[in-house]
Amino acid sequence: MESFLIKGGRPLCGEVTISGSKNAALPILAATLLTQEPCVIRRVPDLSDTRFMVQILQSLGATAKLENGTLTVCARKIKGFADYDLVRKMRGSICIAGPLLARLQRARISLPGGCIIGARPINLHLKGFQALGAKIKIEGGYVEAVTKKLRGATIFLGGRAGPTVLGTANVMMAATLAKGVTVIESAACEPEVVDLAKFLNAMGARIEGAGSPTITITGVSKLHGAEHEVIPDRIEAATFMIAAAATNGEVIIKGARADHLRAVIDKLNEARVTVETRGETLVVRRRGKLKAVDITTLPHSGFPTDVQAQMMALLLLAPGISIITERIFESRFMHVSELARLGADIEIEGPSAIVKGGKALSGAPVMASDLRASAALVIAGLAAKGTTQVNRIYHLDRGYEQMDAKLRKLGAHIRRIQEK
Ligand code: EPU
Repeated sequence: MESFLIKGGRPLCGEVTISGSKNAALPILAATLLTQEPCVIRRVPDLSDTRFMVQILQSLGATAKLENGTLTVCARKIKGFADYDLVRKMRGSICIAGPLLARLQRARISLPGGCIIGARPINLHLKGFQALGAKIKIEGGYVEAVTKKLRGATIFLGGRAGPTVLGTANVMMAATLAKGVTVIESAACEPEVVDLAKFLNAMGARIEGAGSPTITITGVSKLHGAEHEVIPDRIEAATFMIAAAATNGEVIIKGARADHLRAVIDKLNEARVTVETRGETLVVRRRGKLKAVDITTLPHSGFPTDVQAQMMALLLLAPGISIITERIFESRFMHVSELARLGADIEIEGPSAIVKGGKALSGAPVMASDLRASAALVIAGLAAKGTTQVNRIYHLDRGYEQMDAKLRKLGAHIRRIQEK
């Protein structure tokens, strides 16, 4: 296994270009299963998760090639049974279910388990498929959805923590080929859902309202091939913005969409970090001493759960008390005990972490537990005095394209080594 070895204390300075969004690319790749015709998807980030999705498409019978960020895929003839182990390994692969059900009237995939950040059920995905007329069976670790013909319906998809991102994507994809009109109420409003809808409409789907809580899909009989460019990764952009602030540097972030990052920019401003917007370029720098701020993660357009851990790393450096409340996932504080190894003073009280900031951080060996927790450890390591070794960075490689190379270009001392 590989680790990052970071010598902290150097301000990040220079330019970084943001890659395509992982969480937009995964459902868009799955959506290519909806047509027999070829599709071309650009700005696909080269990550273990996207390579994994390409393998899943291939295992279903599609031809797919990912080269220099462009995926060329053709799902002329496909089967409805996905390989058990392939799907089980990546939760995001659940979004092949909607396209398979719509195209073949049948989908059988391994039931994705929980993961370190929470239970991660799929009841809302299944509720949506059932409302469209699918029969669901769970057996032997598989979930099977079968239908004679999907029919449009009005579906309320809100759950205990609000809307579901991949659930909305899945039901929206299934509904594109259903007979009649589907209305998804309490739909997720994330930019990744909007990007998927844009691609589906380019394929001939009739979707309105994506980006709002009510999405209307008028079913069509067939979708055709299309080309699409994936939106920039707002979570990667936020991670670099926070790293710039944490190291007291000045970073020019190219290819980022400020309109996707309003809540993050607002909180950074409140913490005394300036974010200047010049088109698709953001310039980030600190205005003197950081200020403690309170954060609550919420569905879009609220503060994203995927930036909670990174923001916690930043707030360790802000004198005073910051309260971070996690409202989307029930156990997304795995980074807290690892940050403590660097000298962080954080207490967990139910869904909130009470961060007593302003104490000096010093390097230590730490272990990454999930994707965004890894990013938080890297940020804390960059800000800490001395050397930090972040172990198990395969978590980070799932969602950040060449993070070490990008950070090195900004002046960070960071090396990839074999874990000892
Ligand atoms: N939920 C249910 N039932 C469901 C589905 C979800 O109760 O059927 C609950 C979840 O347990 C959670 C909440 O609803 O409490 C929101 O989960 P959501 O379904 O929105 O999460 P997701 O679609 O599975 C995507 C991203 C996550 C990101 C969340 C929230 C992808 C591949 N994953 O997951 O990204 O945290 O939305 O924004 O798009 C990451 O990139 O690090 C990551 C975990």
